[in-house]
Amino acid sequence: MLSKCLFPAAGYGTRFLPLTKAMPKEMLPIVSKPLIQYGVEEALSAGITTMAIVTGRGKRAIEDHFDISYELEHQIKGSDKESYLTEIRSLIQKCTFSYTRQIEMKGLGHAILSGETLIGKEAFAVILADDLCDNPCGETVLLQMKRVYERYRCSIVAIEEVATEHVHKYGIISGKEIDSNVFMIDNMIEKPKIDEAPSNLAVIGRYILTPDIFDILKTTPPGKNGEIQITDALLQQCKKGMVLAFKFQGKRYDCGSVDGFVEATNEFYKKYH
Ligand code: G1P
Repeated sequence: MLSKCLFPAAGYGTRFLPLTKAMPKEMLPIVSKPLIQYGVEEALSAGITTMAIVTGRGKRAIEDHFDISYELEHQIKGSDKESYLTEIRSLIQKCTFSYTRQIEMKGLGHAILSGETLIGKEAFAVILADDLCDNPCGETVLLQMKRVYERYRCSIVAIEEVATEHVHKYGIISGKEIDSNVFMIDNMIEKPKIDEAPSNLAVIGRYILTPDIFDILKTTPPGKNGEIQITDALLQQCKKGMVLAFKFQGKRYDCGSVDGFVEATNEFYKKYH
């Protein structure tokens, strides 16, 4: 059973400054919902109801969003505006939210390790909320990954092909296709230069991790940019056993970049508003 999803949400969101000076980047709106709410909805679609959020200083708005605002409820009670709260009310009812703080910003691997206290010794999902995934005609990306996990019971990363000039922005994997869209990873490198990239298969912000990753992370030295990288820890896990990469169905928007954010906003407005 996969019952918990970790959301690393302590990053500064520097690409959106000055907007993110006082506002968490995870609260950036795609039309009328913040990015992190789309992530929570995706986790729920995969049957996950425990949301474990790794926050940092200045991220209080995330906790307030997944809580009841009594003043607001009182103000709009009985009016037609109540319908705007239907979705978030239902999420709050179905899910539990727990939080821990990442005290120092030492990379994604360090953020995930900071969440150990909320996860314990079970396999868990990870969603990077600024990668917004949409698959209007089928299952959500995390639900597709859960099905792969149920079959193989090992760590899984979601991948997509990217243009070679973009490989330096991602964790890049190589591996052998063992099943339709499922690759057994034999190498992975965090943000390689074009000539060092083992392929153009890029990891996007969806992972299912087995809990032994925490012990590996504890001994993973700082890598690219002096940060503890989940990519490096996964390569270790891969050498000890097996890690899979899954080429998902659907579209991913890089909402950590202004261009991706604007594209997602326009498409979600056209499709869902
Ligand atoms: C992180 C990971 C990287 C992955 C990317 C997906 O990088 O370190 O391996 O490809 O997320 O969005 P970041 O975007 O935090 O620099």
